[in-house]
Amino acid sequence: MKPLFKGAHYEEDPEQFPTTPRKDRSLGVIKLVTALVIFMAGGVIGLSVNTHFSRYLGSQTELFFPTTRYIEECLSIESYIEPKQLKHQMTDEELFWRGSMVPKKADFPYKRVPKVAFMFLTRGALPLGPLWERFFHGHEGLFTVYVHALPGYKLNVTENSAFYGRQIPSQDVSWGSVSLVDAEKRLMGNALLDFSNERFVLLSESCIPVFNFPTVYKYLINSEQSYVESYDDPSHRGRGRYSRSMAPEISLYQWRKGSEWFEMSRELAIDIVSDSKYYSIFRRYCKPSCYPDEHYIPTYLNMFHGELNANRTVTWVDWSRLGPHPAQFGRADVNETFIQSIRNNGTICTYNSKPTSVCFLFARKFAPSALEPLLKISQTVMKF
Ligand SMILES: *[C@@H]1O[C@H](CO)[C@@H](O)[C@H](O)[C@H]1NC(C)=O
Ligand SMILES: *[C@@H]1O[C@H](CO)[C@@H](O)[C@H](O)[C@H]1NC(C)=O
Ligand SMILES: *[C@@H]1O[C@H](CO)[C@@H](O)[C@H](O)[C@H]1NC(C)=O
Ligand SMILES: *[C@@H]1O[C@H](CO)[C@@H](O)[C@H](O)[C@H]1NC(C)=O
Repeated sequence: MKPLFKGAHYEEDPEQFPTTPRKDRSLGVIKLVTALVIFMAGGVIGLSVNTHFSRYLGSQTELFFPTTRYIEECLSIESYIEPKQLKHQMTDEELFWRGSMVPKKADFPYKRVPKVAFMFLTRGALPLGPLWERFFHGHEGLFTVYVHALPGYKLNVTENSAFYGRQIPSQDVSWGSVSLVDAEKRLMGNALLDFSNERFVLLSESCIPVFNFPTVYKYLINSEQSYVESYDDPSHRGRGRYSRSMAPEISLYQWRKGSEWFEMSRELAIDIVSDSKYYSIFRRYCKPSCYPDEHYIPTYLNMFHGELNANRTVTWVDWSRLGPHPAQFGRADVNETFIQSIRNNGTICTYNSKPTSVCFLFARKFAPSALEPLLKISQTVMKF
């Protein structure tokens, strides 16, 4: 092959490219241009660093989203499989799209340790936080925490807390409306961005763990099914909330009810954030007095993933006092016998096709005053 640019004809034609004087002048121009480029690049970098800096300072979020996490990264697998910060500018639509991504390649190019995502749907403070801190302590790397609080609320926790920097961008929630489902999906969408999250638990500020972390982790990670309560309630509080406008996509015999407080696998969480068709039907027709949070997921799973669902919840609650709200437990109610009876209330459940006395891993509803007695017995009864 002919070597490129070697012995090329430029040098052979001094007429066209007169030597010395022109060369000197062009050298000068090159120097000038280089100096200009360097100067401008400096200006651009300075400007962008400055705007980033003031944007973060201006929004005053560094207290909750530590500035150290904002160090600009180049494209890396780390930031893709586990976003280092939870703050983002995505709309729900964008978030659900990103959350729905599934790698086609079967094996991971890194050692994937499956994690449990604990998703807290709260109004504001987490009064039982200290109990959860004790529960999480020493198990870093096996769990992630996400908090959806009302917009504007800022969780005040120290840097070593499991809740530090874990608030996701939130929107207003009005209880009993579809905005509650939106918040649940927002928690799932954010948690799905971490490719190691394998199980997803929805919790409220009044929930407590009744077993220690290793037991909860093993139970969920090794489970063949998800724990989303889903049953047919023939009363006006069940079938009575079905609207015929939902047909033919959703029929009355597919309609289900269940507790909002679910636990599910990554596979099901991806499917739920990906659904627009059935979600839109609920959004349009599940009102008023319909409570989409009690029907959308139980019905959807019944329609498409019945075999993957245990149809029971792992979050204990006491409805025995009847009425529209379950019993709440405060300082006077908490003792060893009571918590022990939640850990094993005599019911036998099925776990991976085998009977077990461990039916509930979490319990609600506990008042802030229950914290002190719970911390007193957590070591002896809950083993953490
Ligand atoms: C956050 O909590 C600390 C310690 O509990 C307290 O001293 C501080 O005043 C709180 N800050 C805000 C903004 O509430
Ligand atoms: C849960 O319900 C589905 C129907 O939605 C059914 O196919 C499945 O067998 C049930 N699972 C268990 C464990 O009973
Ligand atoms: C424990 O609390 C329950 C109510 O939550 C109460 O019925 C029971 O008597 C208490 N047991 C003891 C030993 O205090
Ligand atoms: C155990 O708890 C569940 C859920 O609250 C309840 O349905 C069941 O009746 C309880 N069993 C006993 C024996 O108390």
